[in-house]
Amino acid sequence: MRAWTTRGDGIDRLTSDSVPMPVPGRTEVLVKVSAVSLNYRDLLVVGGVEHWSPQQAVVPISDGVGTVVATGADVARWRPGDRVSAAFLPRWRSGPLTRDIYVSPVGGPVNRGMLAEYVLIEQDEAVRASHSLDDVHAATLPIAGVTAWHAVAHRSRIRPGQTVLVHGTGGVALFAAQLILALGATPIVTSSSDEKIEKLRSLGIVETINYRSTPDVAAEVLSRTGGEGVDHVIETVGGENLNRSLDAIKVGGSISFIGLIAGRSADINVYQFVTKHVTVHGIETGSLEMLEELAAFIDKHGITPVLDAVYPVEDVQEALHHLELGKHFGKVVVTMPGTEASP
Ligand SMILES: NC(=O)c1ccc[n+]([C@@H]2O[C@H](COP(=O)([O-])OP(=O)(O)OC[C@H]3O[C@@H](n4cnc5c(N)ncnc54)[C@H](OP(=O)(O)O)[C@@H]3O)[C@@H](O)[C@H]2O)c1
Repeated sequence: MRAWTTRGDGIDRLTSDSVPMPVPGRTEVLVKVSAVSLNYRDLLVVGGVEHWSPQQAVVPISDGVGTVVATGADVARWRPGDRVSAAFLPRWRSGPLTRDIYVSPVGGPVNRGMLAEYVLIEQDEAVRASHSLDDVHAATLPIAGVTAWHAVAHRSRIRPGQTVLVHGTGGVALFAAQLILALGATPIVTSSSDEKIEKLRSLGIVETINYRSTPDVAAEVLSRTGGEGVDHVIETVGGENLNRSLDAIKVGGSISFIGLIAGRSADINVYQFVTKHVTVHGIETGSLEMLEELAAFIDKHGITPVLDAVYPVEDVQEALHHLELGKHFGKVVVTMPGTEASP
């Protein structure tokens, strides 16, 4: 079978090799991968950035879905034909995140990822894929989808009628906006692009703000919420953008802090934490149980994850460059031979 490896030396040095077919151990399943989806994190692993850089050649890409084709002798949970995905933090079954389960994220820098024709997954670390989504769409759930679900449903606990500021139209932000709508709340979504804002409207998102052409985004949010501010913020940008979120939030509101696009440290007006009684939730992806809940919620509400582009695996480098450009609206997916998105 073929597997792709990186040493963290750049997209163009990603190599594909013919390697022996893996054989499942007693508690493992052999999964034929059908599609993988790309995340910002994959660029850090393949690009060898800071602690994401692999120490040796590793199969990259965290998100993927496939079909069980063989099972180990002690596997009772899965049968050949079951559609499954791997979870990003495979040992996080349920409950709160603890230090001992924050190990071995799938897709580097240490643990192998999903960019291979076949992968082995421990039976307890596989999650059933959504029934209503084809493999191309289902591949987008394990990082972007579950992170948004964790924020929206578990930490900010968004309720019908509330208003939520969502920054940008990246993979996590779009999932969050779709989930917020389905929960009966109102997302206010920002973007740098009027073209993307048009696309948001076609998803039923009517409250939008162009953050490039609007001089004061927080003031605009306040004016749209009768001067009160939003109940919650999905902070996908981070850095000093947190000041914008603090200006736009109402007294007693909460912020789900997810993104590091604008940097890992920043000059923040901490006085606002006090005077506004703000709760900030740090969000790290989500547990296997959250991924199962998300799949069930998506099935129930008929949500379709937004795709920007689908590339065949032969063009995986082009797909990564496409993500790197940052012009995407929705997820970038790479398919293995024989996999196609439903029309
Ligand atoms: N904590 C976690 O568990 C977790 C999980 C997944 C991702 N993340 C992090 O979350 C961030 C987003 O990930 P992603 O995969 O959704 O990224 P992505 O798909 O690459 O999206 C990036 C988007 O952010 C928007 N953006 C950039 N600068 C902005 C600004 N100043 N104000 C508002 N929007 C801005 C842009 O939207 P427009 O083009 O519309 O302007 C851009 O398309 C990354 O830092 C990633 O590492 C964290």
